[in-house]
Amino acid sequence: MRLPPPRIALAATSVRNSVLKFTRAVVPPGAAVLEMVQGAWNAQALFTAAKLGISDVLADGPKSAREVAETIGADADGVARLMRHLTTMGLYKSTRSGAFRLTPMGDVLRTGTPGSMRDMVLWVGAPEHRDDWDELPYSVMTGKTGVSRIRGKGLFEYFDDNPELSETFNGAMTSVSSLVDESVLAAYDFSGLGTIADIGGGHGSFLSDIVSSTPGTRGILFDLPSVVAGNVFHQRGLADRCEAVAGSFFESIPAGADCYILRIVIHDWAEEECLTILGNVRRAIKPGGRLLLVELVLPDDPSTPHPGTLTDLEMLVSVGGRERTRAGYAELFAKAGFELARVVPTATPMSVVEGRPV
Ligand SMILES: C[S@@+](CC[C@H](N)C(=O)[O-])C[C@H]1O[C@@H](n2cnc3c(N)ncnc32)[C@H](O)[C@@H]1O
Repeated sequence: MRLPPPRIALAATSVRNSVLKFTRAVVPPGAAVLEMVQGAWNAQALFTAAKLGISDVLADGPKSAREVAETIGADADGVARLMRHLTTMGLYKSTRSGAFRLTPMGDVLRTGTPGSMRDMVLWVGAPEHRDDWDELPYSVMTGKTGVSRIRGKGLFEYFDDNPELSETFNGAMTSVSSLVDESVLAAYDFSGLGTIADIGGGHGSFLSDIVSSTPGTRGILFDLPSVVAGNVFHQRGLADRCEAVAGSFFESIPAGADCYILRIVIHDWAEEECLTILGNVRRAIKPGGRLLLVELVLPDDPSTPHPGTLTDLEMLVSVGGRERTRAGYAELFAKAGFELARVVPTATPMSVVEGRPV
């Protein structure tokens, strides 16, 4: 998949926001709210199609709802009604013969294909995660996570007892990562950075992309022991340029890299924990080094639509972290001994927040 240049993507987003504002101004408020709340049903329709593998059945070519139903062993009328609605949402297109074929959006609901969003759809619709969101009123009232209330432990500890849900979550993160990787590599110049450390970098897929596309760089992957054990460096032919180091970023971080990346990590934690992590980076970083956070930076104008306001609520109910504006990151950086140098937009809503040690 090819992403547009950041400038074009930002212009497209601005046009979309203007259309949205115009629509809200002309549609009766009751109808607008009705449509919004029914978004929950749309999410469930997507979840059902993903769970039943409907897009997988259509991968070889158009099929009627009856043929799809026979393949997945479902009720033909139910499948037809689901596919009719998903066709209005743009996932399928009906052919003259009454069959359905995949559109590009329907295609990303397939299993295991590059750029697939199926795991993200399965995570958002997972009954356990919907239970977490049922606790949003509790989280808003108390500032505490819904997960802690209903599970009695943090999300990641809960995953330890639920390997299947953990797999769905990790698959969802990979779905999003594949979109983000490409946009960050296109927007940010990593050349001349020498040694790049990806802190909380998962299996090192993003670091591998950076190192393999930037001659002269070396990589250090740092994550929990069970995570770095699954690193992809051998598989990617980068074992001579990348090393994996296991540990906790709450204890210490490998010293001496020129650049420290934390991608979609800081938003997961409460401020005190963020300051511990960033304090450890501050101790490890070389003078003149670069700190790069890849996060959804919220717009300064609170009325500008941005996906980060929704993931901020996901942070509130699930892990106790938060999304921040540019000013919020500048404040956090200052408390941790960094200054915010710039925020680099990408073709996705993710930005690169660049800091320098002071
Ligand atoms: C939301 S994921 C982001 C992963 C990766 N940076 C990406 O963008 O796909 C958060 C990462 O932080 C790691 N992590 C959580 N606690 C950690 C700790 N105490 N020390 C190091 N890494 C940790 C997790 O294992 C996970 O890989």
